[in-house]
Amino acid sequence: MSSTEEMIGRQDVDDLDAILAVTNTEVTETAHAVRANAEAIFTWDYEQSRKPLQRLYDKAKTSQWNARDLPWDTDVDQEAVAVANQIQNGWGDERMDLTGTPFQNWGDKEWLAYNIEAQNWTLSQFLHGEQGALICTAQIVETVPWIDAKYYASTQVMDEARHVEVFSRYLSEKLSGFYPINAHLKMLLDDIVADNRWDMTYLGMQIMVEGLALAAFGFMQQMTTEPLLKKLLRYVMSDEARHVAFGVLSLKEYYAELSAAEIRERQEFAFEAAVRMRDRFLQQEVWERLGVDVKEALKVVVHDPDRPLFTSMLFSKIVPNCKKLGLLDAADGWLRKRFTEIEVIQFEDWVDTGEEYATLDEVAKDRAGASA
Ligand SMILES: [Fe+2]
Ligand SMILES: [Fe+2]
Repeated sequence: MSSTEEMIGRQDVDDLDAILAVTNTEVTETAHAVRANAEAIFTWDYEQSRKPLQRLYDKAKTSQWNARDLPWDTDVDQEAVAVANQIQNGWGDERMDLTGTPFQNWGDKEWLAYNIEAQNWTLSQFLHGEQGALICTAQIVETVPWIDAKYYASTQVMDEARHVEVFSRYLSEKLSGFYPINAHLKMLLDDIVADNRWDMTYLGMQIMVEGLALAAFGFMQQMTTEPLLKKLLRYVMSDEARHVAFGVLSLKEYYAELSAAEIRERQEFAFEAAVRMRDRFLQQEVWERLGVDVKEALKVVVHDPDRPLFTSMLFSKIVPNCKKLGLLDAADGWLRKRFTEIEVIQFEDWVDTGEEYATLDEVAKDRAGASA
């Protein structure tokens, strides 16, 4: 069993100095190498014995789409979108006293600049996360011992290539700036890729990173008034729902064979991933780019009255999926306690993605609508 310090590098999950001590030191590099330690596994058992994975594989083959078919000629006015979205509206005066903070003299111009940067940053992190998924899923093709899972994972590799393609194109053609990968997201992706246990790739990527992405895409998809982004996110989400379901269906079977000690290691990894993703949403690089004192800004951000709702909402897919996998309550409910501390436990009985993925297939719905 590890201490909190060993798991996340600090004793207090909200220690801002420790969070800010993690920085991306490679922002000017064009490549980043991580040593993958898992073995590539051939299987000579070609019998397709896992029906749920076969169904998912079939669905993936028929619900492919082409990035080229999105309405790329849409004219995107980023300022108008930023105003309409109001990702952050300045923690309105009635709710928070900004006197003595870096924001005390901010007016509409500064908040507009912030909202534009926040959008550039958010889409950039989606892009980097998608590349993480591309790499992790290619790794799963090699490392998972089951033929049905190798087949399915190969379709996900194609999906993730398409996701990298659409976010990259949206950023370069429609937005106004690109951000390097967030330090906390990078640390998490590195840990996932480096782990030598094949199921940890699934837990880190399919359950945690993609579970969060599914919730975050859903949130942005509902909020945005920009039609190209709305459609792009609807289609990406259709794929992501399958990816998370792939994680749930595979790990459900595998975890049934693990010892209590091995399950505890998975709980700790899930907690570490949750904290990294929570840290990433502090957007430290945005404050830096805007020339604001980052720590002073974060002191305000963490007290934003909307923040607990927003952050916890990001876990609305992760928590029920962890519950379905038995991770919440194993080892005397260790993960349940941690998720209670970081205030995300309330989602435990929401629908899990192993059940929900088919209803999120917007690509199939559009095709049925078009041929009707
Ligand atoms: Fe993706
Ligand atoms: Fe994905």
